[in-house]
Amino acid sequence: MTSDQKLALARLVDRSPSLSGTEIAAQLVPPRQFQHATLDNYVPDADYPSQSEAVDAVRGFLQGWKPSGGGLFSRRKATPPLPGLYLDGGFGVGKTHLLAALWHGAPGRKYFGTFIEYTALIGALGYQQAVQLLRGATLIAIDEFELDDPGDTMMMTRMLGELIDSGSRVAATSNTPPNALGEGRFAASDFLREIHAMSSRFRTIRIDGLDYRRRAIEGHAVSLGNAEFDAAVKGLPRGSTVDDFGAVLSHLATIHPSKYVKLVEGLPAIALKDVRQITAQTDALRLVAFIDRLYDDQVEIVASGTPLDQVFADDMLGGGYRKKYLRAISRMIALTTGQPQ
Ligand SMILES: Nc1ncnc2c1ncn2[C@@H]1O[C@H](COP(=O)(O)OP(=O)(O)OP(=O)(O)O)[C@@H](O)[C@H]1O
Ligand SMILES: [Mg+2]
Repeated sequence: MTSDQKLALARLVDRSPSLSGTEIAAQLVPPRQFQHATLDNYVPDADYPSQSEAVDAVRGFLQGWKPSGGGLFSRRKATPPLPGLYLDGGFGVGKTHLLAALWHGAPGRKYFGTFIEYTALIGALGYQQAVQLLRGATLIAIDEFELDDPGDTMMMTRMLGELIDSGSRVAATSNTPPNALGEGRFAASDFLREIHAMSSRFRTIRIDGLDYRRRAIEGHAVSLGNAEFDAAVKGLPRGSTVDDFGAVLSHLATIHPSKYVKLVEGLPAIALKDVRQITAQTDALRLVAFIDRLYDDQVEIVASGTPLDQVFADDMLGGGYRKKYLRAISRMIALTTGQPQ
């Protein structure tokens, strides 16, 4: 690498983003990748009828905002639908696509964020002020309702309860059905009451199917040899970053995952040198959150060392966070091909 090149390339570890409550609130819209997601450009897989059922469910949910009016065709007053819709399913079956389509179709003031972004909002503003800000919204869309932390579960179920009571409707996606949230992760039984209270207000739709990204989990994330890596780094667009993988993991530990969104903001590509298998679960979970944000922004990854799809140890893949890791693998495979979808 020439010294000019070195100047043009930055390092991730030199970025230490800060994010205020107002900034988080301003970002509560679907990621760029889903800005044109609609029910019409979601193509249900005929082999998995639950996909078209999910489309119907979202369409039906949207109908809930249509004025019932007093016209000829509205003699029968439909039973009010549940205030919540919960799309549960494997990775890459289009859950986020459908959630974004719902958000785009919803009237009025509405929000779209990941579970982690909502908890970050509460962290930044405080519970009362966060509820105050969201109150009055027609729709609160929550992507990736994943529970890693019992405290967050309590806070989120309490907030959703309050918002639903004040007239908002809530739609969520997850890799885990609501009654199984927390299983294998923390003492779910301690929170069953809260989780059940919440799930009784949601209609749950299970979406089956294949990873739409069409990259089977058996596929490999591209890993380059050292010479190829250096050559690829030279070709990266200005503003890309190059770092040692281990240094990135250490850096991620110093930043709250809610700020990863800003950490990756504006990056065309990142290069990770000497990827190696992760031994600590906390590092693994941070990497998952980081990959999620890279995926939202479709940031290309160039890597050397262990292929990124093999960074999670077998015991991790067999544990309570299995689905999270598999999803991250699917996303890393997509981002290292150079042609993410
Ligand atoms: N049936 C479909 N028709 C059209 N596009 C789809 C369909 N399913 C998924 N996609 C597209 O494939 C990509 C992956 O889908 P999406 O991210 O919505 O899946 P997901 O279920 O949320 O996955 P994950 O578990 O990784 O969050 C997106 O670009 C999405 O727009
Ligand atoms: Mg998703």
